[in-house]
Amino acid sequence: MGRFEGKKIWITGASSGIGKATAQAFSAMGAQLLISARRTDVLQKVKEECAHPEHIDILPLDMEQHLQSDQWVKKALAHLGSIDLLVSNAGIGQSGTVLETTNEVERKIFEVNYHGHVALTKSLLPHLIERNAGHIVAIGSIAGKFGQRKLAAYSASKAALIVYFESLKEELKETGIKVQVISPGFINTEVTLNSLDAQGKPLKRNSKAQENGMPADLFAQKLIRALESDRFHRYIGRKELLAVPLHALSPRLFYKLLG
Ligand SMILES: NC(=O)c1ccc[n+]([C@@H]2O[C@H](COP(=O)([O-])OP(=O)(O)OC[C@H]3O[C@@H](n4cnc5c(N)ncnc54)[C@H](OP(=O)(O)O)[C@@H]3O)[C@@H](O)[C@H]2O)c1
Repeated sequence: MGRFEGKKIWITGASSGIGKATAQAFSAMGAQLLISARRTDVLQKVKEECAHPEHIDILPLDMEQHLQSDQWVKKALAHLGSIDLLVSNAGIGQSGTVLETTNEVERKIFEVNYHGHVALTKSLLPHLIERNAGHIVAIGSIAGKFGQRKLAAYSASKAALIVYFESLKEELKETGIKVQVISPGFINTEVTLNSLDAQGKPLKRNSKAQENGMPADLFAQKLIRALESDRFHRYIGRKELLAVPLHALSPRLFYKLLG
């Protein structure tokens, strides 16, 4: 069972993909879980499919409604008693040019992928500071490290998330609270299917890159291993991760290859 046995872990975006696989992996390790997303019925199915459903509670929430984050944390603490680890994972993709994408979509992407994570973390922090313990891991993206066509809002939201949590990590340096970001490459989940098009409708089609991506259960194992590390920012994926150093080294070559 290992070092997560009995640990109290809250996972957002746990109804699908990375969050679901992470919940399954932690449950198999004997952790006590609280799983969140918008779809309660799907969360219930995830719970039933986990190794120890008796140690899992459900807290439905919509990250867009993050003004309620204090209430969510209150409820989370009522379920778990205390929180050892927050996996701040809920997120939504986007596909559309800057010209076509409505401002409503631009805002929604930031509300879910950035402001929701920020609000939840701020509401949780007093509890962690009181105990001088705890761990927050935010799920970024390699897309947060460079701009791409039709991904401006998504990439910008992930870039903001990464830098925000890096700042928080520095602020909490002298405390017992650990802050990390894990940035996936291509992971085989529903993220592209659920991405919003320029008008805010779900894309409902997958990409080859996504389908050929790392299986979500393998990602979850690697994520859990990365939590043991002292590195603030880890990337998990396959050869697509080369995009990050290539872009840093030669943006011109990077965009030539991407094109
Ligand atoms: N898969 C990849 O290749 C990849 C790459 C880089 C980064 N990521 C990041 O990894 C995270 C997980 O994505 P995934 O790949 O597992 O995609 P996914 O299969 O689409 O899962 C996304 C999860 O987020 C939840 N969610 C979406 N909007 C929400 C909202 N407004 N409020 C609460 N929960 C919400 C969804 O649940 P409900 O629909 O039930 O609310 C679902 O559980 C995201 O932050 C994503 O940006 C993924």
